[in-house]
Amino acid sequence: MRNLRMSFSIPKQITDNHGRPVTYMRLAVTDRCNLRCFYCMPEAGIDYMPKKDLLTYEEMLRLTGILAKMGIKKVRITGGEPFVRKDLMDFMERLVQIPGISELNITSNGVLTAPHIEDLKKLGLKSFNLSIDTLDRERFKTITRRDELPNVLETLDLLMAHGIKTKLNAVVMAEKNIEDLIPLVQMAQDHPIEVRFIEEMPFNGSGTGYSGQLWDHKAILDHLRQKWPGIVPLPMVAQATARQYQIPGWAGTIGIIAAYTRTFCGTCNRIRITAQGTLKTCLYDDGVLDLRALLRGGANDLEIAEALVKACHSRAKDGFEAEQNRKPVTESMSTIGG
Ligand code: GTP
Ligand code: 5AD
Ligand code: SF4
Repeated sequence: MRNLRMSFSIPKQITDNHGRPVTYMRLAVTDRCNLRCFYCMPEAGIDYMPKKDLLTYEEMLRLTGILAKMGIKKVRITGGEPFVRKDLMDFMERLVQIPGISELNITSNGVLTAPHIEDLKKLGLKSFNLSIDTLDRERFKTITRRDELPNVLETLDLLMAHGIKTKLNAVVMAEKNIEDLIPLVQMAQDHPIEVRFIEEMPFNGSGTGYSGQLWDHKAILDHLRQKWPGIVPLPMVAQATARQYQIPGWAGTIGIIAAYTRTFCGTCNRIRITAQGTLKTCLYDDGVLDLRALLRGGANDLEIAEALVKACHSRAKDGFEAEQNRKPVTESMSTIGG
């Protein structure tokens, strides 16, 4: 009988069963975080994985090497909080050397980042997405349950001073930070940054759903329009999560991410690898492949590539379908990687 395995060869560009090329990998390097944002975790935190259950940097580099041969070009490092993991800079220095990886990005809360800005610049980081839901120290404390705003602002100053492309990520929450939307937008007046507002999603680690009434992308835009009626939509960027807007004459832009309404699934180009090595082909699925088991079970590169192709070939068409095919959400965004 013909050996089916022998007939598999690594595709130059991995595509899913809906014809979407997969070119972007979100790689979570840890599930740990130094903040306790209430929309992400309960106050007491979550049960972190034992360290031995997290992928090692060697394992992540091997996986990235395999995926780079299959058409992954863009990598975004996520967490938890990525800078909580030891030796992150050394790891990223090795990651950018992998042939085919042309874009390295990071999403971080910025609390521990200030000492690393020079090195990030040298690394050629494409963009730094800084999570910051308010510019008010007291509200920051209420939202994140930690008094760390000064450190985050120091990181922001340094990112701008070094000319590193920066996007601010603010989750929009009824009764928590609506008064912050306007001051956050005003950051884009003189600075060439993108200020992005994100619909809250129910990944708060307790399975209790939203913190209040959902502010969807339309409500967010209406709120901004009341203050700036002249705000203009910019052309759609293919495969982007954010719909971008600009106030004429301003240095920066404004983005709105319909993360819960899920308006951008049709062109989704991304997969996720969680810190414990689970492949997610959609943010809303509950994991479709145990890559750690393959890596630690002695699978060769071809076998891992074949498993990745198979997983991408049974991908949900959108976040709603992925959500339907799973048990109810109880996990924290810190475990998923955002
Ligand atoms: P860029 O690469 O700069 O476009 O950033 P990004 O939006 O892909 O990543 P980031 O980590 O900054 O995420 C911003 C928000 O968008 C977070 O709340 C993410 O959870 C959410 N987000 C990112 N990717 C997806 C996705 O594929 N689907 C949904 N529904 N939300 C997403
Ligand atoms: N809903 C929406 N966005 C969230 N993030 C974390 N938890 C949630 C949630 N429940 C955001 C963070 C970070 C990004 C990775 O995801 O603010 O910017
Ligand atoms: Fe992709 Fe799922 Fe996000 Fe939609 S909800 S953009 S399919 S990860």
